[in-house]
Amino acid sequence: MLEVKDLSKTYKDVQALNHVHLTLKEGVYALLGPNGSGKSTLMNLICQQLKPTTGKILWNQQEISKLGHDYYKILGYAPQLQGLYEEMSGLRFLTYMALLKDIPKKDIDAEVQRVAKLVNMQEHLTKKCRAYSGGMKQRLLVAQALLGNPQLLLFDEPTAGLDPKERVSLRKVFAKLSKHHILLIATHVVSDVETIAEEIIFLKKGEVVNIGCVNALFEEYHQSSLEDVYLELFGDDEDV
Ligand SMILES: Nc1ncnc2c1ncn2[C@@H]1O[C@H](COP(=O)(O)OP(=O)(O)OP(=O)(O)O)[C@@H](O)[C@H]1O
Ligand SMILES: [Mg+2]
Repeated sequence: MLEVKDLSKTYKDVQALNHVHLTLKEGVYALLGPNGSGKSTLMNLICQQLKPTTGKILWNQQEISKLGHDYYKILGYAPQLQGLYEEMSGLRFLTYMALLKDIPKKDIDAEVQRVAKLVNMQEHLTKKCRAYSGGMKQRLLVAQALLGNPQLLLFDEPTAGLDPKERVSLRKVFAKLSKHHILLIATHVVSDVETIAEEIIFLKKGEVVNIGCVNALFEEYHQSSLEDVYLELFGDDEDV
């Protein structure tokens, strides 16, 4: 279980997150909100790329800052920006990431093939990353997050650049993982999460403005699609 308690983050004069509380158990949690609402900041805090200004994050009641390297065995993260090593092949990239994750050498080949298969990349692994389409790069990023089968998975806009077929296939991967993992998915594509999310977390200017399951949100806003709920919450905002 991941608990976010009274989490705030300020960059110089920008309050990017403001007193956020969350409890995440198994399942898919969707993080929705306009550009600049704090989605990536929250993810970067959970994966310890950033330090909170105030508040804390607990994994099974322990502060993540005190878990040291063990935390990285629990965590898989696919960042929003594609930091791929362009001259490496997909195979080398995944192998390299598996080494960084301390996966035993004897298991690496099988593990790389397992995650590549999950995102349908096994046939493209020998090509260099620079030759991949945006969608293929995105799938490779998702694959590296799955190495070692971590319990907590953070995906920051994982379907950006994917065509509808790839999008549906990734959604199926997420749905399958949701039974035994915690997935936090930031996205602008509401349909990616509408049918698979346990809870939708709406962020606005760094604050959680609503959180609930899809059906409860439909009832509360008298809507029948998540996109309409989103528009009701954010439609009037010219800016965040
Ligand atoms: N390194 C930084 N330094 C200063 N301000 C930052 C930094 N990173 C983010 N911000 C600001 O913090 C706020 C939240 O940004 P964040 O990237 O978390 O939003 P987001 O919801 O992920 O947006 P998007 O949908 O565009 O990815 C924005 O106002 C942004 O300009
Ligand atoms: Mg972002």
